[in-house]
Amino acid sequence: MEYQRAWIRLRWLLLCLAVQLVVADAEFFKPFNVSYDHRALIIDGKRRMLISAGIHYPRATPEMWPDLIAKSKEGGADVIESYTFWNGHEPVRGQYNFEGRYDIVKFIRLVGSNGLYLFLRIGPYACAEWNFGGFPVWLRDIPGIEFRTDNPPFKEEMQRFVKKIVDLMQEEKLFSWQGGPIIMLQIENEYGNIEGTFGQKGKDYVKWAAKMALGLGAGVPWVMCRQTDAPYDIIDACNAYYCDGYKPNSYNKPTIWTENWDGWYTSWGGRLPHRPVEDLAFAVARFFQRGGSFQNYYMFFGGTNFGRTSGGPFYITSYDYDAPIDEYGLLSEPKWGHLKDLHAAIRLCEPALVAADSPQYIKLGPKQEAHVYRESMHAGNLNFSIYRSESSCSAFLANIDEHRSASVTFLGQKYTLPPWSVSILPDCKSVVFNTAKVGAQTSIKIVESSLPFSSDVSLNQQFSTENNGFHVTKSWMTIKEPIGVWSENNFTIEGILEHLNVTKDYSDYLWYITRIYVSDDDILFWEENNISPAVKIDSMRDVLRVFVNGQLQGSVIGHWVNVFQPVHFVRGYNDLVLLSQTVGLQNYGALLEKDGGGFRGQIKLTGFRNGDIDLSKFLWTYQVGLKGEFLKVYAVEENEKSEWTDFTPGADPSIFTWYKTYFDVPAGTDPVTLDLGSMGKGQAWVNGHHIGRYWTLVAPKDGCQKVCNYRGAYNSDKCAFNCGKPTQIWYHVPRSWLNDSDNLLVIFEETGGNPLDISIKLRATGIICAQVSESHYPPLHKWSLTRGSFDGRLSVNDLTPEMHLYCQDGYMISSIEFASYGTPMGGCQEFSIGKCHATNSSTVVSEACLGRNNCSVKISNLVFGDPCRGIVKTLAVEARCMLSSNAGFAQF
Ligand code: GAL
Repeated sequence: MEYQRAWIRLRWLLLCLAVQLVVADAEFFKPFNVSYDHRALIIDGKRRMLISAGIHYPRATPEMWPDLIAKSKEGGADVIESYTFWNGHEPVRGQYNFEGRYDIVKFIRLVGSNGLYLFLRIGPYACAEWNFGGFPVWLRDIPGIEFRTDNPPFKEEMQRFVKKIVDLMQEEKLFSWQGGPIIMLQIENEYGNIEGTFGQKGKDYVKWAAKMALGLGAGVPWVMCRQTDAPYDIIDACNAYYCDGYKPNSYNKPTIWTENWDGWYTSWGGRLPHRPVEDLAFAVARFFQRGGSFQNYYMFFGGTNFGRTSGGPFYITSYDYDAPIDEYGLLSEPKWGHLKDLHAAIRLCEPALVAADSPQYIKLGPKQEAHVYRESMHAGNLNFSIYRSESSCSAFLANIDEHRSASVTFLGQKYTLPPWSVSILPDCKSVVFNTAKVGAQTSIKIVESSLPFSSDVSLNQQFSTENNGFHVTKSWMTIKEPIGVWSENNFTIEGILEHLNVTKDYSDYLWYITRIYVSDDDILFWEENNISPAVKIDSMRDVLRVFVNGQLQGSVIGHWVNVFQPVHFVRGYNDLVLLSQTVGLQNYGALLEKDGGGFRGQIKLTGFRNGDIDLSKFLWTYQVGLKGEFLKVYAVEENEKSEWTDFTPGADPSIFTWYKTYFDVPAGTDPVTLDLGSMGKGQAWVNGHHIGRYWTLVAPKDGCQKVCNYRGAYNSDKCAFNCGKPTQIWYHVPRSWLNDSDNLLVIFEETGGNPLDISIKLRATGIICAQVSESHYPPLHKWSLTRGSFDGRLSVNDLTPEMHLYCQDGYMISSIEFASYGTPMGGCQEFSIGKCHATNSSTVVSEACLGRNNCSVKISNLVFGDPCRGIVKTLAVEARCMLSSNAGFAQF
């Protein structure tokens, strides 16, 4: 019996192993080669036009990856792009981490199993608003090291890591020629921006990096971005808001756009950036119009800087980036939908784009131009045509005039081009897409505070309070964090040490403690002269807090020279404590290894009778980090060991305090967010997972335009929003880090926030709007279904424009708040009926959409009747989405 059981167990184990081996060995593609010519990457012998979606794997959880990749694919991406993150993968020199959010192999496998390619930017310098640009902080400590230049210790470390990654990819069979998804790699990152700092050594370093990378035998092309002197076979690529007109440094290299900035990042106390999709689509269309062949959205999903991964200094925890997929993994509309249409339009042009060696240029007007791609009879490159049976012609018509629309004649036909737009004609006749005409819906996210969809009544009761918020709890426990020394683990030394040299970035916090003797004469001197002493610091960053005898004297935030902080001393010995804090390490620029943190130059006490006292020569006691950090009071297993006491509501807000509570989360899949708007500055953990830093700094009141005009060149200040409001109050808590009940929330608060007002909420798309007119183009998928249409038999008039509305998965359209077919006015949530209005608008839309997850309505008099002859009609709709399980509709 025993024997039999053991045998069954063994067989079971062998079976599991075999399954695992099969999975590990699974090829995602038939092995294929990747090369390139001047026109494009050549994938398995065919030139391709490729759309790439930037997703940084550690900025999401592995549980989120499948959905993010699927949504990128559905949005028209062929490729997923990511940096590698050296400091995440090798937190301690020689100790590697490829687990959890750093499980790069798992991530790339998922990309492959979705049939997408992968573009891996190994760097290993990443920039990316990521702590220290992705460098491990221990790298600074290697004797004689100088980053990113012809420096043997640096080159050795860099080569070791790059080789480690390339070897790993090869072992895991992830390169295209092994049947894996990786088609391209990047070495370095925008080195051209700083190369000048290093003179000849910089030039030598570029050559070395290129040669080193090529020598690793990865077998796929390598790129360098912003590197006009990229040598050998390395493709130099463009990073910018616009890259049309970019020309690589050799005719043999294709035009590649490694970073199309579709939004921007944000600092604490900054406004939120927004890049309108009309302009983004314009930039992408212009790129392909003028010969581009590979374009990567930086970012397609930005995600979250969990833990202390945020770079800076001062970059916020959210890395939403105004990307097409928002921080929580929900689609950001109309960005995602409009780009999806654009990608479908470009896809329709691909046969012609790859067949032509270069476009034919036709000037259509002073600021209007066409580029025509035709299979050339003589080019002899028919091999590159994907659909060989068709002789193809595709054209892009651009109007770069920011103010006026233009009427142009192209190949004998008239076209109207809206300002700052590109029309795409896959058959050189029919416009299937114009970058300025957005048919995709707008989605408005809501954060649910009242849980209308919770089936658990007791949860509602537990969480709702008199002001109708959805508070985490009313019962909190608390511990005071000591000011200054808290452990044996301190040391005393003469002078001021540089911050990172001491903390090694294991914590944001470094305490500097010394003793100041104040005599009767000093006190008399201050009284007589009516002055007070002050701490004077030559230079400091990122945050300084000054304490005397445990009392906070003042705080300084930023990068400052000549800091002057008055202090209050008493007679006798006084404890002077300087708390230096980093808020994300510098991630951009040359000489990062010299950058450091905290204080520079001298620290003095001024205002004393006998002149200034140079504290730089004093004995200082150093204490790294917080006691709570060291004891891991935020960890599920450890927190009970600490001496938490009940927090009494109504007590004065207290600084340097730990709080903890337990909370429940409504079931479901909606993303969860923590409202920390009532807090000051600190860090938060849920079930031991570090959610990130928080800080309720408010953005400037001014600098947000009332109307965001997408026309004209974009920069990150244009169309910014959220003026006068805290930059970030919502913090993403990934579902996979949560249990249904009893989740441990621990907060470390520095400045005295109010934990009682912390709430946990669900994020969902609550309102959807769309506006589509008779003059819009038919849905893109119709064109792909009717490929034959492009021989001229089927004209655009045969296909009616449609409005497509959808709620996120699990939701349905629960009400039509507004519907008007005619000449409706205003925008989403401000629609009103115009002079012309079909009275059946609401009925028609309700019949088509109510109770459904998604619906389509044809924009046609055949559907609504004609409410006003001779006028171009528009359908505008605003609808609400509700959880299907809660809506009182039958499921469709
Ligand atoms: C680029 C850099 C990226 C990122 C971006 C701004 O210059 O290559 O890593 O930092 O700027 O978001």
